[in-house]
Amino acid sequence: MKADLIVGIQWGDEGKGKIVDRLALDYDMVCRSQGGHNAGHTIWVDGVKFALHLIPSGILNPHAINVVGNGVVLSPASIIQEMVQFGGLEGRLFISDKAHLNLPYHALIDQAKERLKGDKAIGTTGKGIGPAYADKINRTGFRVGELLNPQKLCTSIITYFEQNRQIFDIYEIDTPKEAQLLSELQEYKAKLTPFITDTTQMVWKALDADKRILLEGAQGTMLDIDHGTYPYVTSSATVSAGACTGLGINPKDIGKVTGIVKAYCTRVGNGPFPTEDLGNDGQRLGEQGHEFGTTTGRARRCGWFDAVATRYASRLNGCDELALMKLDVLDGFDEVKVCVAYELNGQEIDYLPSNLEDVTPIYKTFKGWDNSVGARTFKDLPATAQEYVKIIEEISKTKVGIISTSPERDDTIIL
Ligand code: GDP
Ligand code: IMO
Ligand code: MG
Repeated sequence: MKADLIVGIQWGDEGKGKIVDRLALDYDMVCRSQGGHNAGHTIWVDGVKFALHLIPSGILNPHAINVVGNGVVLSPASIIQEMVQFGGLEGRLFISDKAHLNLPYHALIDQAKERLKGDKAIGTTGKGIGPAYADKINRTGFRVGELLNPQKLCTSIITYFEQNRQIFDIYEIDTPKEAQLLSELQEYKAKLTPFITDTTQMVWKALDADKRILLEGAQGTMLDIDHGTYPYVTSSATVSAGACTGLGINPKDIGKVTGIVKAYCTRVGNGPFPTEDLGNDGQRLGEQGHEFGTTTGRARRCGWFDAVATRYASRLNGCDELALMKLDVLDGFDEVKVCVAYELNGQEIDYLPSNLEDVTPIYKTFKGWDNSVGARTFKDLPATAQEYVKIIEEISKTKVGIISTSPERDDTIIL
């Protein structure tokens, strides 16, 4: 059986965690393939909140196995801390021995680089994601499997510190002494050994045994290293293709692709965001949508739905359908706007140019609605909200298969 895939269509935080958790009830395995603890996936079940960063969002389904694939950059300290809330996860969580380690010095480099960039800063999460992926591509990284021999890994990392001494000095970073580093690595080994395995083989076996597999993307298409708003992006392939390299599966292993979009747009961090609304509407969206980052607590920038970006992302990812999230957040607006095209150098365009800085959004305005919150069937939605869903489908050229009307797992309309 083929694996189904969930992918963020905008700038992250679309509500992937909620949907993966809801859908995971019908899957045997949920896999993360990229990103790290820059991700923040929030799940609410019966009024209880869970915030996940590295553990896949299938963890609340007691029957699903959860896999952290080779394409993830793994902070051992972060995942160990995250695991505490779930008690024993042995046999339910597996981490690829080929995943790269994201160690404390990566975060220090990330933060120092951002400081030096001043007003050109990317606005990263400061979690060391860029430096950890840079080390991987430079072939100077260390992998999760190496944790199984802490003494050898410690010696290799100390050598790396010595070879890069000048860089650490420029960034004014104190690297740990050998004894301290060794004790940290030993702790990671003690806590993580039961979870470390060859996940490529695991996933292949599950595919061959016709198990139902859900692939959980982190971040969003507009933050993709190649196809996003470079350089204001994250350092991984956030598009559906990234799931192949990040797990060791091939394109033919992928079945249904669901793109997750908010009924409006948000972005956290710097970089172009054509539909950003710096006035009252943007502020109101932020308040009604509780738009504060799960990972950093930063206020998210808010604006109207961007159908041009959605069409682009849908084509890039091969979306079979969209999950339209947070429709309830638009409750109470007299009018809602959708960006249907851009203006670039006086011309109207209907595609995404490589530099989004220079475009101005062209909007169409539609009648708003009052009360969609908690709706669980399409018929329960106010008529104008139903029309809005149809408009999004039409302009985005992708059908809407799921609608979400509150953070709660069950307030979800499956069409
Ligand atoms: P992710 O990174 O894509 O998993 O999204 P986040 O968890 O970072 O951000 C989405 C936020 O919206 C979380 O606080 C969710 O609880 C919340 N959320 C998800 N779906 C809905 C919805 O349909 N309505 C409302 N009001 N909130 C939602
Ligand atoms: P989830 O999975 C929203 C953003 C950061 C910054 C840029 C680069 O919760 O949707 P990084 O730390 O990755 O080097 O930061 O990417 N960013 C996210 N924005 N949701 C995320 O993840 C994000 N992960 C990274 O804010 O602009
Ligand atoms: Mg998030």
